[in-house]
Amino acid sequence: MTMFERQVLLATVCAAMVLASAGRGADDVVTCVTCHAEQADQFSRSVHALLKCQECHAGDLAYPVSPQEVGRYLSRRYGSNLAFYHGSSFNGKPQRADVPVLCGNCHADVQRMNPYGLRTDQLARYWTSGHGSTLKNSGDDRVAVCVDCHGVHDILHKKDPHSRTNPLNVPDTCAYCHSDTALMGEYDLPVEVVSEYRDSVHGKLLLEQGDSGAPTCATCHGNHSAMPPGFATVGAVCGQCHLHVAELFAESIHASQSEHKGCVQCHGGGEDRHFHFIERVNQPPGIMIQRYAHLLASNAAPTAAQIADTIHPDAKKIVMHALPTCLDCHEELDEDESLPKLLGLLDDIADAERYYVQTADRLANVGSGVLLVDNQMFLFEDAKTHLIALAPIQHTLDNEAVGEEVTALNAVCDQVNAELDDLENGLATRYRALVPIWAFTLFFAFVLYAKFKQLKRDWVKPLAHDARG
Ligand code: HEC
Ligand code: HEC
Ligand code: HEC
Ligand code: HEC
Ligand code: HEC
Ligand code: HEC
Ligand code: HEC
Ligand code: HEC
Ligand code: HEC
Repeated sequence: MTMFERQVLLATVCAAMVLASAGRGADDVVTCVTCHAEQADQFSRSVHALLKCQECHAGDLAYPVSPQEVGRYLSRRYGSNLAFYHGSSFNGKPQRADVPVLCGNCHADVQRMNPYGLRTDQLARYWTSGHGSTLKNSGDDRVAVCVDCHGVHDILHKKDPHSRTNPLNVPDTCAYCHSDTALMGEYDLPVEVVSEYRDSVHGKLLLEQGDSGAPTCATCHGNHSAMPPGFATVGAVCGQCHLHVAELFAESIHASQSEHKGCVQCHGGGEDRHFHFIERVNQPPGIMIQRYAHLLASNAAPTAAQIADTIHPDAKKIVMHALPTCLDCHEELDEDESLPKLLGLLDDIADAERYYVQTADRLANVGSGVLLVDNQMFLFEDAKTHLIALAPIQHTLDNEAVGEEVTALNAVCDQVNAELDDLENGLATRYRALVPIWAFTLFFAFVLYAKFKQLKRDWVKPLAHDARG
């Protein structure tokens, strides 16, 4: 059975079960489903298929209504005052503000949730979130409540590709409100966060490449918990995945500055952005080498700047974008040594990276000839280790530590280049040794040819003479 067939079968079975439980012999017994087919149909395909309508709405299990009357209710015109009496227990359509408690009736109940292995902290966490606390404190129900992120009668498991909480769909779920200019304007919140996120390295990774390792809105802000993370804790959020970088950043002078915005101070996209435009800054070594080779093939004499831009386009741009935000603290740029120091550091790194790529290119060229460069390839692996270490270590802002890494990288490249020089010199010497041999061979060939000519003259000519005569 295909996935689709299985789902169809499941849906059919569920629909049958709902019909069976809600209205045995639908001819005579009228239930919720008889009149609310649309909701019932959605419901039968949702995670809640086995629940009864009454668990949220109350009302009667069956109604003594004739088919003719049902017909009248169903063909009821909009705005007509022909109301259906749902019974004394019926509590109608839940108000938005009541939804969290309604869902919490089951989802915060350990006994009810145990059989399904579901957590029971969503409601408690929800009340700590920006949404929940606004709802609780001011009764403002335009914030997200459970049904905005999950749906009402069509709630699906997050693994279902159509689920609102599937990581791939979460940005759209949030965008429903967070890209609404009028709504966000009232709260003074930026509407650009969603588009910035979509253009970010994370957004592209998730939405274009389907890589679920990338964070979506709910990864950083929590599904139900306190949001936003706040600058003080943002390092912790980013550090969930970028552990090594976060540890190194913790060593930097900025980590102790309470006004510093942490990772997004530099990576958030700069002054005109809203912390969500996080860009790729680094190319894996393989790609850097590939791009360099491509540049050489297309351009006879690329400048150093072109090379730097090709192999490592963004490292300096990251800081240049962010520069206006640094000025809050680094006011006196002329007297402040910090920024020139950092930019100098980035230049040193760019130089070292360029040297690495050029060495790699040379190694590949030499290796494609007659010389064996296995030893040098092996040695060069060390350079790669240093190269990869360079990007994260600069988060310490520690010139010495970065300097050591740069020196180590350059030293390996120096050594590889020196060995390649030796190999090539050795080859040149061997080529030079070939010169006398070639000279002798040529000379010998010449002598042989001269001899041949002479013999031909001596032997062939008289014959030709005879033939003519
Ligand atoms: C005989 C047809 C009929 C049956 C049976 C019926 N309903 Fe209704 N229901 C209606 C009609 C008509 C309305 C439109 C508003 C009204 O009359 O109150 C309605 C409205 C509603 C509303 C919206 C109320 C509001 O305040 O906007 C809910 C929720 C609802 N029904 C749930 C149920 C549930 C749950 C059941 C079963 C326990 C059920 N209905 C059974 C006909 C029916
Ligand atoms: C898990 C709780 C829950 C269950 C179970 C449930 N509903 Fe609802 N229903 C809601 C909520 C919440 C709303 C209000 C939605 C909103 O604010 O838009 C609602 C709204 C409605 C409405 C009003 C019209 C609309 O769609 O907004 C109808 C009719 C309705 N439900 C029928 C049903 C029927 C029929 C069933 C059983 C098949 C059912 N509901 C089961 C939670 C539930
Ligand atoms: C009457 C109890 C009850 C109510 C009320 C209820 N749920 Fe559920 N819910 C369940 C049960 C039971 C399951 C597990 C179903 C299963 O796994 O078969 C579930 C499953 C879920 C799931 C899927 C969880 C997962 O990952 O497997 C979500 C999401 C969910 N409910 C959200 C809600 C929301 C939102 C509301 C309020 C509109 C709500 N529920 C109201 C009983 C309830
Ligand atoms: C701002 C959006 C949002 C709101 C509001 C929200 N949820 Fe969720 N919820 C999510 C997301 C996203 C997931 C999926 C989490 C994941 O991928 O692990 C989720 C997961 C769940 C699950 C599955 C189990 C789990 O914890 O992973 C349940 C059950 C659930 N939510 C219930 C609720 C209830 C009950 C409420 C209201 C009190 C609520 N949610 C409010 C976004 C929301
Ligand atoms: C139904 C509309 C709606 C949906 C859907 C929604 N939000 Fe919101 N959100 C709001 C409103 C309104 C506010 C402003 C209320 C406030 O500041 O407390 C807000 C505030 C926020 C804030 C800022 C809180 C603060 O205190 O500054 C964050 C962060 C946030 N939402 C994230 C999300 C994420 C992530 C999602 C999707 C998983 C989401 N929202 C879905 C309406 C929504
Ligand atoms: C990689 C982590 C990350 C992701 C992914 C992310 N955010 Fe944020 N978000 C942040 C940080 C960091 C802040 C700033 C924290 C602060 O203001 O204290 C923030 C702030 C916000 C704010 C408040 C903005 C303000 O100016 O007060 C909203 C609203 C918001 N995010 C919504 C979203 C939405 C919607 C998505 C998905 C489209 C999303 N975020 C994805 C980390 C993230
Ligand atoms: C002072 C500005 C600044 C701050 C603050 C900062 N970064 Fe960076 N980050 C950079 C620069 C510049 C690079 C580019 C390094 C390179 O490629 O040479 C970079 C590179 C990275 C990379 C790519 C590293 C790699 O190995 O390729 C990641 C991931 C990263 N930063 C995450 C973070 C995280 C997480 C934080 C917070 C804990 C953070 N950054 C704080 C400036 C900063
Ligand atoms: C859920 C995990 C996760 C979280 C949380 C996360 N990231 Fe990432 N991030 C990734 C993945 C996966 C990549 C892609 C890595 C790659 O392709 O090399 C990435 C890439 C990056 C890059 C580009 C690195 C490069 O090699 O060019 C930067 C910069 C970055 N993240 C910064 C941040 C910042 C800042 C935060 C917090 C606001 C953050 N990330 C939160 C998973 C995460
Ligand atoms: C919240 C205030 C604050 C912000 C914002 C800030 N810095 Fe700093 N920075 C400091 C302080 C304090 C020091 C240590 C005193 C000094 O050297 O001026 C420092 C030191 C530095 C140093 C020198 C570190 C050392 O060990 O000598 C560099 C480099 C630096 N900052 C770069 C930046 C960059 C780039 C930005 C913007 C992306 C930035 N800073 C934003 C407060 C800040």
